[in-house]
Amino acid sequence: MRINTNYLQLSGRYLFAEIARQVSAYKSAHPEADIIRLGIGDVTRPLPPTAIRAMRQAVEEYADTRTFRGYGPEQGYDFLIDAIIAHDFAPRGIRLDRDEVFVSDGAKSDTGNIGDILATDNIVGITDPVYPVYVDTNIMAGRNLCYIPCHAQNDFTGNIPTQHLDIIYLCYPNNPTGAVITREKLTAWVDYALRHQSVILYDAAYEAFIRDDTLPHSIYEIEGAKRCAIEFRSFSKTAGFTGVRCGYTVIPKELKSEDGTSVNTLWNRRQCSKFNGASYIAQRGAEAVYSPEGAREVRSIIDYYMSNAAFIRSSLANMGLTVYGGEHSPYIWVSTPDGEDSWHFFRRLLTDAHVVVTPGEGFGSHGEGYVRITAFGTCDDSHAAIERIRKIV
Ligand code: MLT
Repeated sequence: MRINTNYLQLSGRYLFAEIARQVSAYKSAHPEADIIRLGIGDVTRPLPPTAIRAMRQAVEEYADTRTFRGYGPEQGYDFLIDAIIAHDFAPRGIRLDRDEVFVSDGAKSDTGNIGDILATDNIVGITDPVYPVYVDTNIMAGRNLCYIPCHAQNDFTGNIPTQHLDIIYLCYPNNPTGAVITREKLTAWVDYALRHQSVILYDAAYEAFIRDDTLPHSIYEIEGAKRCAIEFRSFSKTAGFTGVRCGYTVIPKELKSEDGTSVNTLWNRRQCSKFNGASYIAQRGAEAVYSPEGAREVRSIIDYYMSNAAFIRSSLANMGLTVYGGEHSPYIWVSTPDGEDSWHFFRRLLTDAHVVVTPGEGFGSHGEGYVRITAFGTCDDSHAAIERIRKIV
């Protein structure tokens, strides 16, 4: 056999695996160190009680021959798809058919797997800094990447390219910078994609953190987006499903390739062959977060994280650091002191403050000079981390 040599082009380890390795090595050498982890965006609040009750009930159904379920639909159960359409899209004036929503085990898998149905000679536009999954999965496929610099001067939303791109990844609220995109700027991206017959892969995993209702929550709020965009959503950061795993992808039937092939049909074909559907239990849990009580519980969990974000943001700014994000996003993007190398600052925070953050360079070369801090920790940890950081910056 021969391997897919594209994998040899990848950087040694997946970013968060590399950070976990460095933290674990430090912890082994210093078992007494009380480490606060504000690196990977993993949640710390318990799941909404309504989702827990729904999942318990779903487990009970498996215990009885009359309610037992085997394989579910590869695309997800109608009960969840109907709730998604009714709560996430209809109120924003977006009409979707059931067969335009594909429930999955999460946005990470879907943003990675979507490349299966896209040609390897497509030119891929990747905002930089960026969630590393988009980069890695395209390197694995052997595609050519074209980086779109994102910095404070373009509000971390990239300049509309002058050259042709076939595929463009956008993620707003943004991981890692915490930036948001305005309706006007998103319209400019959609217009570009329509002009170039490109597809925008729009990762909206953090849309529930948007607090300003003039900002778009879905790309389909933009005229023409159904003809040029796929949207990814997740229950991980809203309902605390990072370990449960459930998300979904929207592929409108209007979206066609250059030669008129339906992307929706291809993705459905791919999913039927490679995926057996998300767990019924997870889907019942996800459905429950759309109930009035579930929605209230989710709102209070998000408020908790956003109060951490506001605290981290203002404290770092008071230390004289330049800070972005954290207003409509659980991520705070902060400049390193005196332009310190981001991996160096990461290691200094780990060893001198016992605080884990994510070095900006790990998200791309334009992330150099920054680190990302998440607001997903506990309130106590967020406060303790700030006190420790204050001592060393
Ligand atoms: C992150 O820290 O960027 C996220 O937790 C990663 C993910 O959602 O896969």
